[in-house]
Amino acid sequence: MNSHITLGIETSCDETAAAVYHEHDGLLSSIISSHADMHKLYGGVVPELESRNQLKRINPIVSEALQAAQVSLDDINTVAVTNRPGLPGSLLVGTAFAKGLAWSAQKKIIGVNHLEGHAFSVFLDHDVPFPHICMTASGGHTSIYLVHDFGVYDILGQTIDDAAGEAFDKIARSLGWAYPGGPYIEKAAALMNFQDFYHYPRSMRDKLDFSFSGLKTAVLYDLVNKGLFDLKTKTLIKKDEQIIHQVASSLQVCIADIFVQKVKLAKKLHPNIKAITFVGGVACNKYIVRRLSDVAARYRLPFFSPSPKNCTDNAAMIAFVGNYKAQQGAYDQFDLDIKYT
Ligand code: KG4
Ligand code: ZN
Repeated sequence: MNSHITLGIETSCDETAAAVYHEHDGLLSSIISSHADMHKLYGGVVPELESRNQLKRINPIVSEALQAAQVSLDDINTVAVTNRPGLPGSLLVGTAFAKGLAWSAQKKIIGVNHLEGHAFSVFLDHDVPFPHICMTASGGHTSIYLVHDFGVYDILGQTIDDAAGEAFDKIARSLGWAYPGGPYIEKAAALMNFQDFYHYPRSMRDKLDFSFSGLKTAVLYDLVNKGLFDLKTKTLIKKDEQIIHQVASSLQVCIADIFVQKVKLAKKLHPNIKAITFVGGVACNKYIVRRLSDVAARYRLPFFSPSPKNCTDNAAMIAFVGNYKAQQGAYDQFDLDIKYT
């Protein structure tokens, strides 16, 4: 019998992505089209425009992924598609496309949870032992998982309001930087040697849940008090580079401290874990990666994080999850629907 090959499709937010995963040879291709130009124009994600963009790009991106993998549609066994959570209009484009393709070409279909995709994205680059603790932080989500096996995991904690990436993005915007804000904050923090100047609040210390909305407000009011920001017009009125860099550095250290504290608490509650992982767009942040890998080293545990292209939204992680779900026989029916949360 031929080897099993999965086509993965990801359209949950502002990327159109497709990838091909071979059960034995691993990832054969991963194509990502980001709608970044649009963010520059509008200062963030505009759902209506994102879904129209998805519609325009999905066909060529899937063709490109098949071509780059040097396979044809005939070689594909299963189409795996992100069907939850995300922007409804964007999810609908990918899910309807995947169902149409799978139906007409007589392939199997699997709906994949985007967050499960992130949690297992680390396997695209590393072999990670089970059970392990996985910190997931992106623009839309922040969670900590106890991962037992492929597709088997418990949510230990998650954000009760904003995501960590959202805190980076929104505060960066107040400081005058473009979307996505994370890389700007990290760069400015590096200039300040990652010093904590202003001691912003580390909330929910004794819990595994996260809250970032208070932190966002604390930084905003600090900027107002320092005479840099006008609340009425919501604009930066004084570009004091030194203070802006100090604020960025303090925020960077604060968010890293919060992650470190959660991982330590999770390890205390689950002492038998064999590794710690850090995934999602925020895992592109080398400072937080260093802080978490230091924690792991203190416990004499291995630490893993995906390569940057597998941290931010991609279809490789969706194809990977589709591959193990196919091995488990966890297929969906053609009535597969989308879910917002
Ligand atoms: O996983 P992702 O591509 O999309 C979602 O699923 O949301 O994550 C995007 C997020 C953005 O909030 C962006 O600011 C953040 O990842 N990000 C970073 C860095 N690079 C990207 N955050 C902190 N430091 C970075 N270097
Ligand atoms: Zn994501």
